[in-house]
Amino acid sequence: MQEAGAGLVVDAARAEPFASVEDYRAAVGRVREAAAAYYSGPDLAMDDAVYDALLARVAATEAARPDWKADESPTEVVGAGGGVVGDVVHSAPMLSLDNVFDEDTLRRWAVRLERILGRPAGGFTVEPKIDGLAVAARYVDGRLVQVATRGDGRAGEDVTGQARRAAGLPERLAEPVTLEVRGEVFMTDADFERANAMRTGAGEPAFAHPRSAAAGTLRAQDRTYDAPLSFFAYSVHRAEPPTVAHSDAMAELERLGVATTGGSVAGTPVCATVEEVLAAVQVLSASRGTLGFGIDGAVIKADQPADRDAAGSSSRAPRWGVAYKFPADTRMTRLLGIEVQIGRTGVITPVAVLEPVQIDGVTVTSATLHNFDDLVRRNVRPGDVVFVRRAGDVIPEVTGAKLDERPADSVPFEPPVRCPRCDGEIDRTQKRWRCTRGRACGAHESLAYYAARHSMDIEGLGGKIIDLVVAAGLVTDPADLYDLDVPTVAGLDRMGEVSATKLVAGIQASKGQPLARVLTGLGVRMTGRSMSRRLARHFGTMQALLDASVEDLQQVEGVGPERAVTIAAELVELAPVIAKLAARGVNMSEPDLPPPAVAGAPAAADGSATAVPLPLRRPDGTPMTVVVTGSVPGLTRDEGNEAVERLGGKSSGSVSKRTDLVVVGDGAGSKADKAEQLGVRILPAERFATLLAAFQAGDEAGVAEALA
Ligand code: IVH
Repeated sequence: MQEAGAGLVVDAARAEPFASVEDYRAAVGRVREAAAAYYSGPDLAMDDAVYDALLARVAATEAARPDWKADESPTEVVGAGGGVVGDVVHSAPMLSLDNVFDEDTLRRWAVRLERILGRPAGGFTVEPKIDGLAVAARYVDGRLVQVATRGDGRAGEDVTGQARRAAGLPERLAEPVTLEVRGEVFMTDADFERANAMRTGAGEPAFAHPRSAAAGTLRAQDRTYDAPLSFFAYSVHRAEPPTVAHSDAMAELERLGVATTGGSVAGTPVCATVEEVLAAVQVLSASRGTLGFGIDGAVIKADQPADRDAAGSSSRAPRWGVAYKFPADTRMTRLLGIEVQIGRTGVITPVAVLEPVQIDGVTVTSATLHNFDDLVRRNVRPGDVVFVRRAGDVIPEVTGAKLDERPADSVPFEPPVRCPRCDGEIDRTQKRWRCTRGRACGAHESLAYYAARHSMDIEGLGGKIIDLVVAAGLVTDPADLYDLDVPTVAGLDRMGEVSATKLVAGIQASKGQPLARVLTGLGVRMTGRSMSRRLARHFGTMQALLDASVEDLQQVEGVGPERAVTIAAELVELAPVIAKLAARGVNMSEPDLPPPAVAGAPAAADGSATAVPLPLRRPDGTPMTVVVTGSVPGLTRDEGNEAVERLGGKSSGSVSKRTDLVVVGDGAGSKADKAEQLGVRILPAERFATLLAAFQAGDEAGVAEALA
């Protein structure tokens, strides 16, 4: 959330002014309301991204039409006029910060500062911008005597009683000094969970978001619960003007016993140049999801008191400091429904189905709700507007609901009474509910998927036999299949020696399937056959795939941030069964491309096969989009699609203007007609089979002829 006007200049340049004075005034009203809710409430009026965009439009309008400007515009007053003004007058105004949103604007800010100083600044600190509430805490002779909120920057409310409990704001300092500490009261992620447990335990509605939880707790009059709070200082003020660098003053404060942003896990590096500052901002941004508390940006400050003196402040914000805002990690959206997911080990989890919402450039459509206790604790119902948080690579989570917008007819979600997959009993003794059948619960489904034609293609392993081996307790995961021997299988109901021999041979033969099929068979969520092929091609071996970071996964075509996180989490969950499969000799690599030389292929000087250029590539080297419709002689449908990819193309299921080639075989239907209508190139299936054979034989002329 932005707080004051000066920094808006940056965003106002991009924002669209309102067309009428009425729209402008209405927006000012909405900003004021939202700011008031931000500082005082457990309920937020709108999420930060919407608020920031609205405030930027207000600023843009004021720049375009100064004659419309409202008195006490939210762009001009500290806290956008939302802070509750109390009767504690601050020793010096509590200012706000200007905001920048990108690197170039930060560089421009530094150039401007250098111009004001007439020389380069003598170093900068880069602090986390804590997403909480600003307070000023007075210590007299080492004792904490008063804590006040920022209010309108001139005077704030007395919150001494509640603030005394904040970790990091000690009752007594290590020395009997008199000073004022300014900083942020906030709630850590873990304390937010605890606070909501206490609150709902006391019959009160859950907090939706850690910052509103901190605001509600700090301003609570009746203490029916003792929700935990934390504090980090970001400045210290004494009677005499500062003589030491800000970073040293903060280190001294730590020594006196006050927690500071510098002492937090985020740290406060001191940087000599703006490029060093940008690198530190990057590091902070990357660690955002793992800090354990919310930050909404970095604060960059001139470290030397002489620089601060020379730069001075406007009525709202200092010129020696600036906030580099990160994209909002929490957005509001509607909870469309709650699905119950049963994991491979039988863990039963509620999952939120969301109206799509953009968080930091990623479209989020589902989020974790952790467990059923949590669902009750967070007081979330289908139909609610909910807060969704996505921090870096972490799977998005629903933190709470916006209770003031709950539909009148909403009803609580009814958790399942029996396992929705196998109708078995549910073990509710742990936080994470589990089907009492554990791995066996989903065994039938996962084994059938593993054995299917498009996966490991194990002949003879149909539904009935899967039921038999699972019921006999012989198999709970795909790797157990490879331990089956003929006498054991032959001993099962209605199984003879001959069919048992055939089945065991089929299972053993599947060990040689390529990695793409192993991956398909494991049923990694958010991947299908063609994604499994792409992953296998890209990484080559299972080990390389298991070692891949979320960032590495995103190098694969079609893998965005949300899918990458899910795939990474799935692979962690599957690691034990993958290890079991590897130990039983299942192939864990993908054959190289182009395929190894076959008999009769021309050989290069070193004896290896001559590499034939991939025929299904466009002139710029990107894969052609190819649709196979009808049957290709000698290939199943899957194999046809695999062949497309082997030849360098990308297989697709539907024909459009962007399709490069349609392979048409016997039984082709409307796709062939559509290709004709659109003028997309058609290749008869026999020619495609010839092309494949020529390619596999390393016969470049044959390839060219098939495509001619
Ligand atoms: S310095 C005169 N440092 O952000 C400058 N503020 O948007 C005073 N904040 O009002 C602020 N973390 O409530 C500073 N490391 C940090 C901060 C920080 C959070 C808050 C503070 C301030 C607001 C400005």
